Amino acid sequence: MHSKNLLMACGPVQMDPKILKLGAEQVPYMRTSEFSAWASEINQGLQYLFQTQRPVFTVACSGTGVMQMAVDNICGPDDTALTFNTGVFGKRWGDIVRRTGIHVITEDMEPRHNVTPDILEAALKCYPDVSIVFLTYNETSTTALADVKGCAEIISRTNRLLVVDAVSALLVEPMQMDAWGVDVAITSSQKALALPPGLGFIAFSDKAWKRISNIPCRSLYFDAKAYECNCLRNFITVRRGRFR
Ligand SMILES: Cc1ncc(COP(=O)(O)O)c(C=O)c1O
Repeated sequence: MHSKNLLMACGPVQMDPKILKLGAEQVPYMRTSEFSAWASEINQGLQYLFQTQRPVFTVACSGTGVMQMAVDNICGPDDTALTFNTGVFGKRWGDIVRRTGIHVITEDMEPRHNVTPDILEAALKCYPDVSIVFLTYNETSTTALADVKGCAEIISRTNRLLVVDAVSALLVEPMQMDAWGVDVAITSSQKALALPPGLGFIAFSDKAWKRISNIPCRSLYFDAKAYECNCLRNFITVRRGRFR
């Protein structure tokens, strides 16, 4: 069935038979040192994909779930967010942030266009109070790419934060989270990672983490501080050599 119907969309993509077989195995119990070692190894692989030294959290949710997690953790009551209507997913940033009640400025874009450093600079000139900028790296609904590296260069010179939806871009387009100065990056399992849907991945820069430490997270499920504790616990378990 799977090999006959080759779906040439950007995701969900077809999975390797090895991955399909793994899905039929028993679920491992999470309170074991073996699980900690396994989770730490996965984290290292994800750090490589995101090109970050910071932990990358694996979250049981869709891509939209990790978009929500980004917003719930970094948006404080005094923030002003800037989002761009690049298509379905750029608009989704605005829809999620608006529900927090914080001030949101949304720039409409030309159809099938995405954000360039010039567009960003012009918007920031008009709205100097913006403290968080949200981009969609590959706007899947139009395939228009944002110049994330160029935009990060502008934002990293300021106190502002840059949040990037890389759901359909990670592993396809370059991503150098730390080197470029991206503060929050998200992706999900069902696109270029070619895994079953249902896992989201999110990483925060040191700059974003300073802010997170001072803001109570809006949601219990998506509280990044709890995920950080789990990562640390797995790491310590492995370092103590409890894994055999
Ligand atoms: C760029 C982008 N962001 C977010 C999402 C939402 O992901 P999900 O459908 O897993 O919630 C998608 C899904 O296609 C996407 O392409």
